Amino acid sequence: MQKRKILATIALTYANGSIHLGHLVEAIQADIWVRFQRMRGHECYFISGSDAHGTAIMLKAQELGITPDALVDATQAEHKQDYINFLVNFDHFHTTHSTENYGLSCEIYQSLKKRGDIAVRTISQAFDPQQGIFLPDRFVKGSCPRCQSPDQYGDNCEVCGATYSPSELISPRSVVSGAVPIQKESEHYFFQLQHYETMLKEWSHSGHLQPEVVNKLKEWFEAGLRDWDISRDAPYFGFEIPDAPGKYFYVWLDAPIGYLAIFKNLCQQRTDLDFETFFGVNSEVELYHFIGKDIIYFHALFWPAMLEGGGYRKPTSIFGHGFLTVNGQKMSKSRGTFVNGSTYLKHAEPEYLRYYFAAKLTPNIEDIDLNFNDFMNRINSDLVGKVVNIASRCAGFISQHFDYMLAAELSEPALYQHFAQTGDLIADYYEKRDFARAMRETMALADQANQYIADKKPWSLMKQEGHQQEVQAICSMGLELFRLLIIYLKPVLPQLAEKSEHFLQVSPLMWADKAVPLLAHRVAQFTPMMQRVTLQQLEAMIAIND
Ligand code: 2FM
Ligand code: ZN
Repeated sequence: MQKRKILATIALTYANGSIHLGHLVEAIQADIWVRFQRMRGHECYFISGSDAHGTAIMLKAQELGITPDALVDATQAEHKQDYINFLVNFDHFHTTHSTENYGLSCEIYQSLKKRGDIAVRTISQAFDPQQGIFLPDRFVKGSCPRCQSPDQYGDNCEVCGATYSPSELISPRSVVSGAVPIQKESEHYFFQLQHYETMLKEWSHSGHLQPEVVNKLKEWFEAGLRDWDISRDAPYFGFEIPDAPGKYFYVWLDAPIGYLAIFKNLCQQRTDLDFETFFGVNSEVELYHFIGKDIIYFHALFWPAMLEGGGYRKPTSIFGHGFLTVNGQKMSKSRGTFVNGSTYLKHAEPEYLRYYFAAKLTPNIEDIDLNFNDFMNRINSDLVGKVVNIASRCAGFISQHFDYMLAAELSEPALYQHFAQTGDLIADYYEKRDFARAMRETMALADQANQYIADKKPWSLMKQEGHQQEVQAICSMGLELFRLLIIYLKPVLPQLAEKSEHFLQVSPLMWADKAVPLLAHRVAQFTPMMQRVTLQQLEAMIAIND
């Protein structure tokens, strides 16, 4: 197999809120995929960071009485730790508020300008006369112009679904100060996306994109590509645009450039990584962005166009996923279905969530539901009841009666072969991000392993004179099958894999290890590896308010 070089990213998280289970769908999905690639022997890097800029972060810092820099630093550290706690294994978790990102954002902007892709126009926008700031759509509220529902945001109505501009709201108010916004004119800078239509059409047919993304792009091409407003007026927390005093890059310009900047920052820390190899226009490295369905527009249109204009390579693909619902409901604080990562961890193990998401994730852009009953059943019946149970059923005999030694020969080579070959199919599912199928196949194998032990009944053979060797053969075979299951689950359950590696006394398992059975090998004492989860534990997550 040829060794691949891969760089994967997840969306940079805004530095003004906590990591919640929705963020974790994406982080866990990407982490599983990255761990799988590494187990296959590929060179795979994984980066992310904080999305530091914008009005929301500036105002949040103001509200807390701290500088935006201090807010970003604190939030970045919190997010980094949250991801570590969920076993998300980044090579680097940095921030968009960095010198590398300033340099790259200016450089790419200047390339676009030189190519004639930047237009300057005066536009009129909602302005808070009390605060002296222009108001993003989400910072104006009023009654919906269509259905008159009160307290709706300036871009769309949550009651009737209408979309409009803040100036159309009835009785608009600034969310920041409560003042009535006025309309004020200012000069803005626009990126003329249309110049990249031919390239984008070609890129969208490169064969790497999900069919849903290709269809979306088709719709957007049909509707016509519009200029993109990339500037914001002071006061704004971000990077000032070169030669444009008082004008700042809109956060969504420098956020994706942050992927490059974060990697560049990593390259400065490591002598074995070269930025040009990964991002040069002729790069052969595979580049994938894992993102939510709400930000496909930015990643599938603006981003490849900016990279092309800036003289950098484009992503190999973007991997979109759906949203998370909790017990069938949209995650919402008022409904009590909003769960922060840190809240989850007070009640349950990170690997439970990783396995549950894996069992639900497909390569399609569809929403997934976290249902507490389903969650409990899958953890208790699949992981505790099927997988770990195989080891606990076999380990005691091997340690007590055979001095921890596995048999010198495989007693059921055909069964072993079947397990090892199914590993190729499971690998194929992992590669395609069809984790739901990978988990189903693995659990079907776990059923077969349990069936094998149930049929052979080592506990009753043990009581019969002259059947000792048979018991060793059966239990060794059981532990062999367990080892293969652990290989197949390792991208999802790295802690369980580590405990199993210790128990089996083997070095960190790689995918290729499925081909080589452990014969005449000494294992360690078996200790319980995973606890059952209760419904009460899960319900406690939404019972408290934090
Ligand atoms: O939607 C979001 O949460 C953004 N912070 C994602 C940015 S992704 C990338 F472009 F940086
Ligand atoms: Zn409405």
